[in-house]
Amino acid sequence: MKALVLAGGFGTRLRPLSCTRPKMLFPVANQPLLDWTLKNLSEGGVDTVILAVNYMAEALVRYLGPTKFDLGIIYSREERPLGTGGPIKKAADLLQNGGPFLVLNGDVISDIDYRRLVEFHRRKGGLATIALFQVPDPSRYGAVELDGEGRILRFVEKPEPGRAPSNLVNAGIYVLDPKVIDYIPEGRSVSTENEVFPVLAKEGALYGYEARGLWMDIGVPEDYLRANGLLLAKLDGVQVGEKSKVDSSAEVLPPSSIGAGVEVGANSVIGPNTSIADHVHIGRGCRIENSIIFPGATIGDYTSVRNAIIGENATLERWVKVESGSLIGDYAVIADGVTITQGVSICPSKRVEESILEPRQVM
Ligand code: GTP
Repeated sequence: MKALVLAGGFGTRLRPLSCTRPKMLFPVANQPLLDWTLKNLSEGGVDTVILAVNYMAEALVRYLGPTKFDLGIIYSREERPLGTGGPIKKAADLLQNGGPFLVLNGDVISDIDYRRLVEFHRRKGGLATIALFQVPDPSRYGAVELDGEGRILRFVEKPEPGRAPSNLVNAGIYVLDPKVIDYIPEGRSVSTENEVFPVLAKEGALYGYEARGLWMDIGVPEDYLRANGLLLAKLDGVQVGEKSKVDSSAEVLPPSSIGAGVEVGANSVIGPNTSIADHVHIGRGCRIENSIIFPGATIGDYTSVRNAIIGENATLERWVKVESGSLIGDYAVIADGVTITQGVSICPSKRVEESILEPRQVM
């Protein structure tokens, strides 16, 4: 079976981390997001993946090459972004012949059982099946209303509190019959969610499959950190890569993962729920918890990082505090003694000399 993975798009909220890599290569528990996705597709019976790429396509091609995890990888390059539906039309020649195929949003991480999803799709005999997950608060997603047969009657995009027809949301994972390609207009950006699925729902040809297990869209820092913590817990314990030096007085609390060539200074405490990528340098007396540190970052002495993401080669000098869903862009520098808290986002290569205590983006 084939799967088309939507691996383009910019990912607005996490953009400061995209200066050196596309979102699909962001580390989750110290492995690129795309690796988790491809592994699960391979285990789910997929043999060929079509990667629909635009932004930073070269980085993806260089990283993956022609095959990974026993999957053949074909790249479908867009000259300009085609949205979530246009890439399906563009790859029509690859998808038209044969049975149903999978389509998934590349920024979703899930351990869904694809075999069960496809089996449900075949049993129902519709043109498309959307995987649905139960979430406590559907207001950031597209919630659906189902009939007794599992048909999707309607969607409510980003429902206001109390207005959602259910807590079941569109997971960004679909099985499509090749006939669906005829529903997608050619040569322009198309939104499958807004332009194709409502038509299929009206025709009674769209089904919803309630999946269980892990599912997360890593589009915002809070969810990215949560996904990281959940996958670290699956790996279990503490992992430390080759040639890393953790001082004997430092502590690493599980679950945590430390990459290769990392240095951790005296009396620092790392973890829980923390990923430190390769070649990160952490000074003495630091506290890093529930956070993701991209490769090559430098964390100066007595600095603390809590519930935050630090981009590639960023530098936090000494006595710095970064907290509460804040995000430090690639190559940014945070000067001595600065506190950054409350969902602040610092753009790449920016130097910050004064504390920022309210949510904002620093350009
Ligand atoms: P936001 O800008 O934060 O909304 O994120 P996004 O750009 O990732 O958009 P959206 O959530 O609508 O995208 C859903 C999935 O489709 C994501 O995995 C994107 O990477 C992917 N995607 C979005 N736009 C395009 C596109 O134009 N081409 C391709 N190939 N993929 C896309």
